Amino acid sequence: MLKGKTVVLGVCGGIAAYKAVEVVSRLVKCGAAVHVIMTAAAAQFVTPLTFREISGQPVYTTMWEEPKLWNVEHIALARRADLFVIAPATANMIGKIANGIADDFLSTTVMATTAPVLIVPAMNTEMYLSAATQTNLKILADRGFHLMKPESGPLACGTAGIGRLPEPAAIVGQVAAHFAIAKSLQGVRLLVTAGGTREAIDPVRYIGNRSSGKMGYAIAAVAAERGAEVTLISGPVALAAPSGVTRISVESALEMRDAVLAAFPTVDIVIKAAAVADYRPEVVADQKIKKQSASMTIDLIKNPDILAELGSSKSGQFLVGFAAETQELAKNATEKLCRKNLDMLVANDVTQAGAGFESETNIVKVFYQDGFSEQLPQMSKRELAAVLLDRVQQQRSKIDRN
Ligand code: PMT
Repeated sequence: MLKGKTVVLGVCGGIAAYKAVEVVSRLVKCGAAVHVIMTAAAAQFVTPLTFREISGQPVYTTMWEEPKLWNVEHIALARRADLFVIAPATANMIGKIANGIADDFLSTTVMATTAPVLIVPAMNTEMYLSAATQTNLKILADRGFHLMKPESGPLACGTAGIGRLPEPAAIVGQVAAHFAIAKSLQGVRLLVTAGGTREAIDPVRYIGNRSSGKMGYAIAAVAAERGAEVTLISGPVALAAPSGVTRISVESALEMRDAVLAAFPTVDIVIKAAAVADYRPEVVADQKIKKQSASMTIDLIKNPDILAELGSSKSGQFLVGFAAETQELAKNATEKLCRKNLDMLVANDVTQAGAGFESETNIVKVFYQDGFSEQLPQMSKRELAAVLLDRVQQQRSKIDRN
């Protein structure tokens, strides 16, 4: 996994900095090229010489030295990294990265990298649990940074609690797992739908729903990071297209249907997180409807069920539907799974706080074709996207084996 990979390791100033020496040693033994950047505070705990000897590479501590290997070193390192790891990451460094402060070699290089970044915090329990650190970690998680949770146990400050740097073997295990998963969807073509549709009433009004697109966009982003070729068919949302994803913007259910059906024959996996309107106004007025009588009636006609159409015509595609339920979740979910001929259905009870439309997190129960179901805890939509893609990959490899 690690042979030939370039890992840039940022070491911050904490007592756990000594454990980073073993992290470097293990990574090097596994065949990785490791470039170490130390903050000034880290150099108070362990000498740069130790890291230089273990890594066999120059160690970076300041922006202001003569270049060692390359002309603009922080940019060169930022570009060379296959993975950026910060271990131990202090509250100060986490705060700087989350808030766009680049005032030393490490924070500047992190800002310049497009490589995935794994942050491994280590600090006193109260500092770790403080609102500032937790908010900053959340910002980073939402931006796609990978976080490794600190361990609980005795701390250097004489107390015990969460905040210990995980053991070097566990950190290296996480790095190896990252490389294993990073390209796990390479060569796979994935279609994701996201956002709500708008069904026009007249030139200025529409019937819509509360979907923000966050769930579908998170899936598209994580799938692209795993190497999939991702097409994202999106209703109108206020989100930027994730990097490496081809976005097709649509407005109505009929436009979404056309775009989905056109892409369907060329993809391997479909994940339909969009909230498609079930009905649309039968007649769309050419001009803005004037205010007249005390009430008005709009006749609605049924939209095609895009997912059901895919289910009835699929030829090898793995089909994942979402279900937004307000009651009888399991009954409705299993009915949709069967009727729409899906391989997997992700059901959210949208009445729960922290679940469904617009929220940053989701709480879902996943239903599989073999009758098995799995309740997942509340997690960010990005974390959930990763878990759902893991499940899709596991299910697909089961199908391949049979
Ligand atoms: O976008 P967010 O704010 O992050 O919110 C996420 C979400 C709540 C929108 C998402 O988690 C979700 O549940 N999406 C599906 C919402 C929905 O339309 O559920 P449904 O039970 O009405 O539809 C079931 C499935 O059929 C869905 O995959 C839907 O895309 C599909 N469908 C529905 C109607 C239709 N005419 N065509 C369809 O393809």
